Amino acid sequence: MSHSSHIETQVVHAGQTPDPATGAIVTPIYQTSTFVFDALGVHKGYDYSRTANPTRTALERCLATLEGGDYGLAFASGMAATDTIIRLLKPGDHTLIGADVYGGTYRLFKSEWERFGLSFSVVDMADLASIAAALQPETRLIWLETPTNPMMTLADIPAVVELAHRQNILVCVDNTFATPCAQRPLELGADIVVHSTTKYLSGHNDVVGGAVVVNDAGLYERLTFLQNGAGAVPGPFDCWLTLRGLKTLALRMQAHSANALAVARYLEGHPAIARVLYPGLPSHPQHELARRQMALFGGMLLVELAGGEAAARHLCEHTRLFALAESLGSVESLLELPAIMTHASVVGTSLEIAPSLVRISVGIEHADDLIADLEQALAGLA
Ligand SMILES: Cc1ncc(COP(=O)(O)O)c(C=O)c1O
Repeated sequence: MSHSSHIETQVVHAGQTPDPATGAIVTPIYQTSTFVFDALGVHKGYDYSRTANPTRTALERCLATLEGGDYGLAFASGMAATDTIIRLLKPGDHTLIGADVYGGTYRLFKSEWERFGLSFSVVDMADLASIAAALQPETRLIWLETPTNPMMTLADIPAVVELAHRQNILVCVDNTFATPCAQRPLELGADIVVHSTTKYLSGHNDVVGGAVVVNDAGLYERLTFLQNGAGAVPGPFDCWLTLRGLKTLALRMQAHSANALAVARYLEGHPAIARVLYPGLPSHPQHELARRQMALFGGMLLVELAGGEAAARHLCEHTRLFALAESLGSVESLLELPAIMTHASVVGTSLEIAPSLVRISVGIEHADDLIADLEQALAGLA
């Protein structure tokens, strides 16, 4: 699959050829831990499934193509992918992370990696001057989410890359919210892309997974060593589910984006809502950057309730179609209160999320049904 074909085609075909043994059009689930050798030192390319498995290889090649990268690696979860990237660092190294990076990423830095001599600073990635001021001689990595979870803040990827590469600092972009249908960080100069494939890439709330994509052969070699050496790999069935979900990614992202814009516009006009943050709305403070950097604006939005925490709790507990649940990016619409759910791990830190904020993951149901559900849940709050 050439890198020049369209993403609608890539999601269906990349990394997947008819099974050489049977002609099966769908990559089989190679549910095996080990592979028989033809002779000592001679095998068909696979020896043990922690090291490599054909279903995983298909997924890894597909993910690399979608991100416009040369090498893909699949992991057991988004956090396993994140943990593996951080193992590229050594004690004494410093990392910059975004001010509202995913709570679990912050938690690992704070409660684990610091113990091993890795330091980090939290900066507003929307502010280039703050990034420049926070750089240290020991800085080796800048960790970006754009848009961020849950504040929907954008980072200007090429501008951050330019700053970082002056000092040989790696830029890693968590592309979970945008997906490669909306944004391809490697093509904008980033060194590493990381995903929670649990979200849009698999898309159906039925599997937990992670991925890393890079272009540099040396980085890939180190990451491959760690993937095999530490072993946080996904099983063949999980890889297959992710491949199956990926086939409709391009269609789903169009539907998520169209629905999210409709819901965002509706909520922006509702008296119970004080603020809507969605990159596709002209009112988003970084709308111009979003238009420059993103081909689609995605399915995630954040709303602030005019009635504060009580109103936010009311909304979360009164929808019928939007399910009250953590996670995001699936066909089903979800909503949650980050302050006490996904981002509880940053309570008491500078990353704390206000309890009046509700995160909404807009699914692919009909926009009219979604709006009607929000309407009935907000009734009485205005
Ligand atoms: C932006 C982002 N990155 C990473 C993760 C971690 O991924 P996982 O839950 O698959 O380990 C999440 C999970 O919510 C996320 O939202």
